[in-house]
Amino acid sequence: MNSRSIRFLTRRGFLAVATAGAAMSLPLRPARAYAVDERTLRAAPAQAQFAGPDRAPTPTWAYNGTVPGPVLRLRQGQPVRITVENSLAEDTTVHWHGIRLPNAMDGVPGLTQPPIAPGASFTYEFTPPDAGTFWYHPHADSLVQLGRGLAGALIVEEAEPVAFDRDLIWLLQDWRLAAAGRIAGGFGSAMDASMSGRVGNLVTVNGTAQAVQSVKAGERVRLRLANAALARMMALRFEGHRPVIMAIDGQPCEPHEPEDGRLVLAPAMRVDIVLDMQGKPGGRYRVIDDFYDSLAYTLATLAYDKAAPLRAHPPDAPAALPRNPLPEPDLANAVRQEIVLQGGMMGGGKLAGVGGMMGMSGMMGMNMKGMTMPGMNGTPAWAINGVSMTGDGHAGMAPQFTLRRGVTCHLTIRNETAWWHPMHVHGFSLSVLSRNGSPLPHRQWQDTVLLAPKDTVECAFVADNPGDWMLHCHVADHQMAGLMTVFRVT
Ligand code: C2O
Ligand code: CU
Ligand code: CU
Repeated sequence: MNSRSIRFLTRRGFLAVATAGAAMSLPLRPARAYAVDERTLRAAPAQAQFAGPDRAPTPTWAYNGTVPGPVLRLRQGQPVRITVENSLAEDTTVHWHGIRLPNAMDGVPGLTQPPIAPGASFTYEFTPPDAGTFWYHPHADSLVQLGRGLAGALIVEEAEPVAFDRDLIWLLQDWRLAAAGRIAGGFGSAMDASMSGRVGNLVTVNGTAQAVQSVKAGERVRLRLANAALARMMALRFEGHRPVIMAIDGQPCEPHEPEDGRLVLAPAMRVDIVLDMQGKPGGRYRVIDDFYDSLAYTLATLAYDKAAPLRAHPPDAPAALPRNPLPEPDLANAVRQEIVLQGGMMGGGKLAGVGGMMGMSGMMGMNMKGMTMPGMNGTPAWAINGVSMTGDGHAGMAPQFTLRRGVTCHLTIRNETAWWHPMHVHGFSLSVLSRNGSPLPHRQWQDTVLLAPKDTVECAFVADNPGDWMLHCHVADHQMAGLMTVFRVT
C-alpha cells in the first residue's frame, strides 16, 4: 500500500477539486458503507499543567497541543485516515498499539515505513477490525518521545453500541520531573536501562495529578484504563468498590473480579472495567496504586455528588462484551517458537540470565561503585535468544523467525531475568494459554503479556497478517537496550 501518494487526496481535497470542475476525468468513487473518518495529529512541543495552575508549567511534546493527545474514537469496521504532521525537531512515527492492521501502517521506522522527518507528514490508513481500548504513541526515539508526553488513547467503538451509563477513559502517564516542573534529562541511563527502567515521580490521569473523578451514586461506568508509562508497573485498588474486568488489551474476556481486588497494569496494557458506583452520595473514595510495596500513593479520587442514587438496586451482573473477530489458533497443527529473555543488571558485567532478586528499595539505595554495568554507553543490557537488537525501529532488522501465512504459532516466552517485562507483539493478539504450566483461570487475548521474574508464558496466534512485526518489552529502556526482536510472516 502506498499511502504517501494518497496523502494529498484527502476527502476535503477531493471535493475541492471536484467543485472546481477539474475532476472530470477522475473515476467515480464507489459508494461505501461508511465514509472514511479523517483525522489529523500534529506532534509538536507544548506545555502541560499537571498539578493545577499554581504550579510551574511543564514543557512537553504533545499531539495537537495536549497531554495526553486527543482521544481518538473510531468505529469498528469503519476506515480511518489519520495524517500525522511532524513539528518536532527529530524524526517520528505513530504506532497504533494493539490494532490489527496492514504492516505498512504499523509505524515502525525502517521496518514498516520511512521515518517522518521534521516538517513532513505521513497518512495512516486502516480499518480497525476489533472494538476495544487501544492507544497510540511514537515508535521513533520512543524512550524520549513517549517520556516527553507523546501518547493518546484510541477507542474503537463496537459496531453495535454497548450500553453503560458512562464510558470513561483514564490514560495513565508517569513523569520523572526535576526542579521547576521540568522533565528530567538523562534518558537511557545505564541504571534505568539495566534495571527497572525509567520509573518517574509523578503519575497523571489524563494529564492531571491527583485527579478527581466525579461520579453519581448508582451509575454503572465503563472505565477504560491504559498504562502509557515508560516503565512503571501499576496495581490499582478501588477503595469501597468492586471492579469487574470486562476486557484486557482491548479484547473482551469473561467478566471477572481481579485477584485480591487489584488490577495489575504493566506499561502498554489496557484493562476495561465495569464500576458500579455503590458508594454513598457525597462520599470520596481513593484509587490507590500499590504495585511497589513501600511506595503506595493515591492515583485519583472518586468524588460522589450529593444526588440520591440513580437506581435503588445495583443492576444485574454485566454481560460479556461482544467478541472480536479473532482467528482461532489450531493448536494441534501449530508451529512452535520460543523466545528467551536474557540479561539485566546482576552478573559481573556480563549479560546475566540469572541473579539475585533486588527490590525497588534495595535498588534505590544501592552503591553502584565498582560494578560493571551492562547498558553503559549504549551497550546492550538485554537479549532475546542471545541477540540484542537495540534502539528503536531501524533498517535492516533481520527476523528471528519466519512463519508461513495462516499457520498457528505456539509461542513460549521464557523470562530468565530477575526483572518484570511486559512483552508486546505488534499486529496480532495472543491467546494466552498458560503461565508457569498452569492454564489461566479466564481465557485471555492480549497484545502485551506481563512476565514476572522467571515466568514462562505460553500463547498462540494465527499468523494471518503478512509482514515484518516487532516483538519487544514495553519498558522503553529495556527495548532500547536489547529486549526487542522481529519476526516475519510470509
Ligand atoms: Cu506500543 Cu512497539 O509498541
Ligand atoms: Cu504495538
Ligand atoms: Cu523489560
